[in-house]
Amino acid sequence: MKTFQQYALGYMDSIGAPIVHALWPRQPTWAVASISDMDAAFFAGLVIETRPAKLVEIGVASGWGSCVLLEALDAAEMQKSVLHGVDIAERFFYDEAYATGQCVNDVMPERLARYRLTTGMTAGECAARIGAGVDFAFIDAHHMHPWATLDLLAIMPMMQPASWVAMHDINLSRKEDQEHRNRGPKYLFEGWEGDKMHSTQVPTMAGAIRLPDDPPACLPLLLDILYTPWELPVDARSCNAATDAVERVYGATWGAKFRRACEIGNYHVGKMQSADIDELHRKIAALRGGVRGWARALFSERNA
Ligand SMILES: C[S@@+](CC[C@H](N)C(=O)[O-])C[C@H]1O[C@@H](n2cnc3c(N)ncnc32)[C@H](O)[C@@H]1O
Repeated sequence: MKTFQQYALGYMDSIGAPIVHALWPRQPTWAVASISDMDAAFFAGLVIETRPAKLVEIGVASGWGSCVLLEALDAAEMQKSVLHGVDIAERFFYDEAYATGQCVNDVMPERLARYRLTTGMTAGECAARIGAGVDFAFIDAHHMHPWATLDLLAIMPMMQPASWVAMHDINLSRKEDQEHRNRGPKYLFEGWEGDKMHSTQVPTMAGAIRLPDDPPACLPLLLDILYTPWELPVDARSCNAATDAVERVYGATWGAKFRRACEIGNYHVGKMQSADIDELHRKIAALRGGVRGWARALFSERNA
């Protein structure tokens, strides 16, 4: 594992903190379930330092994260940069009274001309629409494996070599209420063998990996990460959108390898998570509950 030597731990957080501090009082009260101010400082610092021209945020929700990125672009004097937002949901998942991305309209309408939002699609489905030349990505959509890896596969063919890919919730699975699920960004971040860095929070939630100078060089590693057992099945349309993007740019052999990894991932997760297995788990839990549990299970079975 390589960490990035150019910046000391905490450097990104420290240069992003002042703009986050100034921006935070403007966060609408309804814009919950977003990045924290600590995460925002790291991501803003990364944008200020790397000064990207074409950014993609995958997973927009309220749009508060988009506000942070747009604010950081101004701090970096990158007023001509464009931020593309992608979200599967048309409405803010936490409160449907608000549209996905609405924070940008409400908080900084003057920046809407530089904000291109696509809803109702995954990254794979709208990567071609975004087009080439992306030099910064922020992956913060579905947190169960393999989504973060699929999102990266979808957008990587559109990205410039050596660009940074920020990702959120890399240790979400370590929060007690998550029952060790939501390991998608964690597998991608921890499995990454190239340059990477993270915020100072412990455990950190905000991280970033840097694509190699020759992006196809990381395909074997991404394939390996994709083979890590999946936490949920993924429909064929979404898998194909990502693997087709790989095939278009890196060739049929890579397309076939990633398609096979998707088949295997879906096959195993299907075996591990089926209605029959859920029923068995319920029965085992009832039996473990002692005689009363066993009797209750027997009774409910007889009356079924
Ligand atoms: C944690 S929220 C994003 C928070 C946002 N980045 C911020 O900082 O405010 C996750 C979002 O990802 C979206 N999402 C979930 N699965 C997705 C997928 N496969 N493709 C695109 N968006 C997805 C959800 O609709 C939700 O709005």
